[in-house]
Amino acid sequence: MKFFVDTAEVDEIRALTALGLVDGVTTNPSLIAQSGRDMSETIKEICGLVDGPVSAEVTATEHEQMMAEAAKLRAIADNVTIKVPLTEAGIQTCKALSDDGASVNVTLCFSAAQAILAAKAGAAFISPFVGRLDDLGQDGMTLIEDICDIYSNYDFKTEVLVASVRSPLHVVDAARMGAHVATLPPKVLGQMFKHPLTDKGLQAFLDDWKKTGQSII
Ligand code: E4P
Repeated sequence: MKFFVDTAEVDEIRALTALGLVDGVTTNPSLIAQSGRDMSETIKEICGLVDGPVSAEVTATEHEQMMAEAAKLRAIADNVTIKVPLTEAGIQTCKALSDDGASVNVTLCFSAAQAILAAKAGAAFISPFVGRLDDLGQDGMTLIEDICDIYSNYDFKTEVLVASVRSPLHVVDAARMGAHVATLPPKVLGQMFKHPLTDKGLQAFLDDWKKTGQSII
């Protein structure tokens, strides 16, 4: 399972890449706005920090303008993945870009029917938003299960990228279902390390070790 980080904060990405667990990055217009920085500069910096795919999202809503924005974003770095919304124009753009050899992430997916369209259009990634479905009282992970099941019936190359992740439980469930990627807010990645018995056990080991008076080095 690949881990992407879901942030446009370059300092956070730099710190997380040091762990050796980051396979890519996803951004969206809201995350760019939160960073308060220029989009092109930010994407360029992130692409220099991470070898894997870095999603940069178009903001146009019509096909021709999406293609023009995508051309500009693709020129930033070889590892830019173009993110398009799951609309008719987005799917048309996904097909055109994929046919031209670009990596495309289709975002804002909330149904299995939408996920089939993205795969048919040659998307490299489909991004179903589990947290936002949970917020509505629906079970976001059921959508992941459905998409993984459907894609396994065909030879689609599209990878299931679990987005809008809110807790380590989402990641564990996604892994159980065989999703290819989870994009994690840095906070969730940090939470995955934590267990009170790990902290308690380590403290006991350190206390006992101190009593021996020994040193490994
Ligand atoms: C990533 O590609 C998505 O844009 C992101 O995971 C959305 O997360 P949110 O629902 O917490 O905004």
